[in-house]
Amino acid sequence: MPAMTSLLIAIDGPAASGKGTLSRRLADYYHLPHLDTGLTYRAVAHELIRSGQPLDDEAHAIEAARRVDLANLDKHALSAHSVGEAASRVAVISDVRRLLVEKQREFARQPGGAVLDGRDIGTVVTPDADVKLYVTASPEVRARRRLRDIEDRGGHADMSEILADIRRRDERDIGRADSPLRPASDAHLLDTSEMSIEAAFRAARAIVDGALAKRNGA
Ligand code: DC
Repeated sequence: MPAMTSLLIAIDGPAASGKGTLSRRLADYYHLPHLDTGLTYRAVAHELIRSGQPLDDEAHAIEAARRVDLANLDKHALSAHSVGEAASRVAVISDVRRLLVEKQREFARQPGGAVLDGRDIGTVVTPDADVKLYVTASPEVRARRRLRDIEDRGGHADMSEILADIRRRDERDIGRADSPLRPASDAHLLDTSEMSIEAAFRAARAIVDGALAKRNGA
């Protein structure tokens, strides 16, 4: 691993693109703290569901966003599929985004740097990141990966329902007015449709190492 002082990596992409696994692997490799920003939107959605509030109740959503504590995100409770779907609905509320983005930026300001992944990291949260990756895969490949995940955990699901679900989520994340999902103009695109996790990790590392070498004048 090349010597470095500080390294901020921004990773964006649609649901089930593999960006989460890639982000964790990169954070491990470069010894950086990692924030999955999707968990912050999931935490807001989870709180609304828990307290029986509708997902378009802006006042409650804003209050829940204010209370999100990055040190206490219960990954297990937040991982349910229904929570992800609900999160993409509360994520259209601008005041919710503003409050969560503030917390995410604070995380990104750690002295040694960090890895953040989400939908608007390279465009809005940390537009000055050292390296930006936009990770994609075709909807069919993402649906197949999700189905395999569910089956590996002993569950059952219907491929056509998963695919419809992924398309619906893409539409909402790409189509919203505030901070829609899109690659930053200076992001490196990584299409993992035909790649194993290992190959995607190698490709991502080559991009980060290339950016570091450039920064160090190599
Ligand atoms: O990455 P995920 O599936 O955990 O994200 C859940 C939802 O949260 C996603 O559909 C949209 C929203 N989200 C967002 O709007 N901005 C982010 N930076 C991360 C997630």
